[in-house]
Amino acid sequence: MTDQLVGDPAAGRRTNILDHLDHRTPGHSLPGALYTDPEVFETEIDLLWRRRWLFVGTVAEVPEPGDYLTFDVAGSSVLVIRDDDEQVRAFHNVCRHRGSRLVAPGNGSVGNLVCGYHSWTYATDGSLRYAPQLSPDIDRACLGLRPVALREVGGLIYCSLAATPDGDLDLAADQIRDYLTPHRLDRAKVAAQVDLVEEGNWKLVLENNRECYHCEGGHPELTCTFFPTWGLSEDQVPDRLRADHDRYLFAEADLMRRCDELGIPHRLVEDLVERPFGFRIQREPLDGVGESFSIDGSRLVGRLLGDLADPQLGRCTFHTQPNAWIHLLADHVVTFSVTPLSPDRTLVRTTWLVHEEAVEGVDYDVEALTAVWRATNEQDATFVRNTQLGVADPAYVPGPYNEAERHVDYFVRWYDAQIRSEV
Ligand code: FES
Ligand SMILES: [Fe+2]
Repeated sequence: MTDQLVGDPAAGRRTNILDHLDHRTPGHSLPGALYTDPEVFETEIDLLWRRRWLFVGTVAEVPEPGDYLTFDVAGSSVLVIRDDDEQVRAFHNVCRHRGSRLVAPGNGSVGNLVCGYHSWTYATDGSLRYAPQLSPDIDRACLGLRPVALREVGGLIYCSLAATPDGDLDLAADQIRDYLTPHRLDRAKVAAQVDLVEEGNWKLVLENNRECYHCEGGHPELTCTFFPTWGLSEDQVPDRLRADHDRYLFAEADLMRRCDELGIPHRLVEDLVERPFGFRIQREPLDGVGESFSIDGSRLVGRLLGDLADPQLGRCTFHTQPNAWIHLLADHVVTFSVTPLSPDRTLVRTTWLVHEEAVEGVDYDVEALTAVWRATNEQDATFVRNTQLGVADPAYVPGPYNEAERHVDYFVRWYDAQIRSEV
């Protein structure tokens, strides 16, 4: 170790993570230390989670001036608030006096933001309005809340903790927006939100989400509508799934025709490996009736989103690295955000959105709306927990991905490249 590294623990940690990456076998799962080592985790927080664009929520969660949500990640708490001029802004949830948290974790609504410690009071645009007994010599204009970079894309809110965020989300936004806007998240409301702490490393959560190799036996509710051959090429479809796949091809052709007639984009755009804001978006058919994530595929919400009239729009699925996947259907939207808590604990927040005028108990039933993904999340949490236990076992040796896991491979390659680009 060099003298410089001895004096710089962060540099030592970076050498450590590179060491593990250098020892990974391409096309195989990652070495165990990358899922378990606290130094690796700290380096990821510094190099990825404090530097990349993170999905934090939607405009539907802050519909009125003064409405706010918090997103806690990487030791920071981000406060997203709609100001009195209807602009959605983000600030560090840290008082400019002596640093108290301004609001507790969660959602809420305020007229002004009042610190509970000494009553410093901030307007919804972050400016300091009132500070009892503060010397007139002190410039209040310099004591507004510290902003966090925010971008809104089709109603999805992304934030970056970086002082100078990369411009990649802005580049991607133009390719994405038209897929999202028909669902009108600006006219949606939250029907339900569930937080689930999975007992596994954040990368295992993402990897698990990136393949449906486990779906056939693992997700009986989801595979009622989620075609089990997702991710397989023609020559990989096993005989027992041939009928499912033929049904998929038929449904896909029908969906493409439908979307083309309505002018709704559906083609795959995928750039998962090279760019900082790795993403994939595509509209794909659902099995059964083809409308929603129910057991028979029929819609779960009577009132469709925005001005949509056709309920059979399948699922527009948007995946963004490092922390989100989102399904946009004609009748509802379900978003998932991922937040690392520790090397072996990860928060998955699931939010269901429906038309703002949909009436609970009339147009939808929360139990029924959330049933498939609540069950699927629990099943995935078990897969992730069991895998965390296995990769932490000294007997673990990384194993090979198959073609159905190519998106897992893309994710791992993205992770490798992003770490190396920041070291
Ligand atoms: S720490 Fe907020 S008012 Fe003192
Ligand atoms: Fe799964």
